[in-house]
Amino acid sequence: MNPDTNGSPLSTNRHLLRWVEKMVELCKPDAVHWVDGSQEEYDGLCKLMVASGTATKLNEKHWPGCHYVRSDPSDVARVEDRTFICSLSKDGAGPTNNWVDPYEMRKKLKALFAGCMRGRTLYVLPFSMGPIGSPIAQIGVELTDSPYVVVNMRIMARIGLPVFQEIDKGEKRVVPCMHSVGAPLAKGQKDVAWPCNKEKYIVHFPETREIWSFGSGYGGNALLGKKCFALRIASNMARDEGWMAEHMLILGVEDPHGEKTYVAAAFPSACGKTNFAMLIPPTHFKRQGWKIWTVGDDIAWIKPDANGRLRAINPEAGFFGVAPGTSQSTNPNAMAALSKNTIFTNVALTPDGGVWWEGMSDQPAECLDWQGNHWTPEIALQTGAKAAHPNARFTAPAAQCPTIDPAWEDPNGVPISAIIFGGRRATTMPLVYQAFNWSGGVYMGATMGSEMTAAAAGTIGKVRRDPMAMLPFCGYHMGDYFRHWIKMQRTLSETPRVFHVNWFRKDDNGKFIWPGFGDNMRILRWIVDRTRGRSTAKETPIGWQPHYGDIDWVGLDFPREQFEALQKVDRVAWRAEVMGHEELFLDLHDHLPPEMVYERELLICRM
Ligand code: GTP
Ligand code: SPV
Ligand code: MN
Repeated sequence: MNPDTNGSPLSTNRHLLRWVEKMVELCKPDAVHWVDGSQEEYDGLCKLMVASGTATKLNEKHWPGCHYVRSDPSDVARVEDRTFICSLSKDGAGPTNNWVDPYEMRKKLKALFAGCMRGRTLYVLPFSMGPIGSPIAQIGVELTDSPYVVVNMRIMARIGLPVFQEIDKGEKRVVPCMHSVGAPLAKGQKDVAWPCNKEKYIVHFPETREIWSFGSGYGGNALLGKKCFALRIASNMARDEGWMAEHMLILGVEDPHGEKTYVAAAFPSACGKTNFAMLIPPTHFKRQGWKIWTVGDDIAWIKPDANGRLRAINPEAGFFGVAPGTSQSTNPNAMAALSKNTIFTNVALTPDGGVWWEGMSDQPAECLDWQGNHWTPEIALQTGAKAAHPNARFTAPAAQCPTIDPAWEDPNGVPISAIIFGGRRATTMPLVYQAFNWSGGVYMGATMGSEMTAAAAGTIGKVRRDPMAMLPFCGYHMGDYFRHWIKMQRTLSETPRVFHVNWFRKDDNGKFIWPGFGDNMRILRWIVDRTRGRSTAKETPIGWQPHYGDIDWVGLDFPREQFEALQKVDRVAWRAEVMGHEELFLDLHDHLPPEMVYERELLICRM
């Protein structure tokens, strides 16, 4: 006997109800829970996770409403080699995505999901990516057997009854999202703290707009509204409908006259989006009246409005941010956002029921590390053991960020004046330069390289091409994606200016040359001034670069020679760089827009 689906708050959408019934029949959960999104429900699920050993309630005095979770040590990041774009043809997914024939994959998934929720509850979790009712927002329903997913999704998206009501209106297509940790329980079998499966499948069917995720409970693998929907599926919708789904933060720069300029910036995973989105300007800038407002820290949906202006929404409602390195000095706004009602995953637990991670504050005398082992600074010195996993994360409500923009939930989004690309590069890439024009900007984004980070399982530190920071997230052929970018400009009356930044260039001793964080304001100000036609620059082979005197240096001792070292365009290094571009282009050749080839030729000529 299947548990009945009677509790459904859906009144008219029979189609969705039948899908839920079919999935219940397939997965065989013990119970079905229709998620209403209430605080009581959230509290109940947290209690359930505490009782089952999944979560620890933190010290209520210092960390009100906060919970701590340790994942399985094998389930700590996105798994790119287990992520599939199962388009009808292999060519549709392109060479940068893993592809399996959709017919084969459906057979495989059917077998994996058969009975996979035995002994567990299936949660029917409706969510809206973007403010409910916004013309740019999209709706999905995730069926999951993970209460951890439900509580995280309550922070990361708009969920529950208002979304069921939106679904009942029948105006928007609902994206079905199947998720299981893939760990059915036999009768009487005791659950583990973090159930998951060695075998993982993160699968997207772009034509039918479906997501199936099996075996992982972590972040981008399991919170299906985020990377799976808001990037991989949404990039397909965006291509078909003339908009853009991008791995970008959105921020507003308010100048001393109160004039606001919004920019969107694409940096790869763990390359500084959250920090940049919440930047606190140096004292001198603050005194002059400069302010930074946060709209989003990870994903932007960008659409031309009726006047041909690009407008962007943040489809998310929370931050799933990298904990290590986040501190009162590097990012006080994130620290305020995560001070309450937050879920911490894979950080360290202190003896007084608080959390700690590398770079947060002075080391605690002792704590339990992310795997639950006793950790002390001495042990760390001897063994190199980290207290927090490098990809440890906080899940915090965006509304708790002190710099959250008053317009962050504006259903029509905010106008975008500039786009910034940025990778993590120890060499070659200067601190900042501006593309000559849109197609040069598309080339700049398309050829972006970055060192790999702990956000995905893989070789850390290796430079790979990560076009527009979308390599792991573009749900179709990358060459067609470049073409879509080129085409977008044709519908615009105002073209955003395009820039490239690199906060991560290192000196010969392996130390970052640029102080980064708040001081990035100096570069951002130049970007805004350029966008508004207020600042000069010099022409170089790769684009426009600021003169030393174009940057406001007040409050920072950064001599001209050091700036020039940071801005240097080394012809030998750039030769190798252009070869790297060519390697990517070879892979994409039969879908590559001609503009990319011309831009490359022009770059080579200028070099
Ligand atoms: P995802 O959530 O994975 O998409 O990452 P993200 O792009 O939001 O990166 P985040 O802002 O969380 O930063 C990742 C790491 O880079 C953290 O350890 C930061 O401390 C570090 N970082 C961010 N900005 C800077 C900077 O300007 N300079 C330096 N040196 N490090 C930075
Ligand atoms: C990223 O890896 O870019 C993230 C974290 O934002 S995850 O949600 O795990 O994808
Ligand atoms: Mn991200």
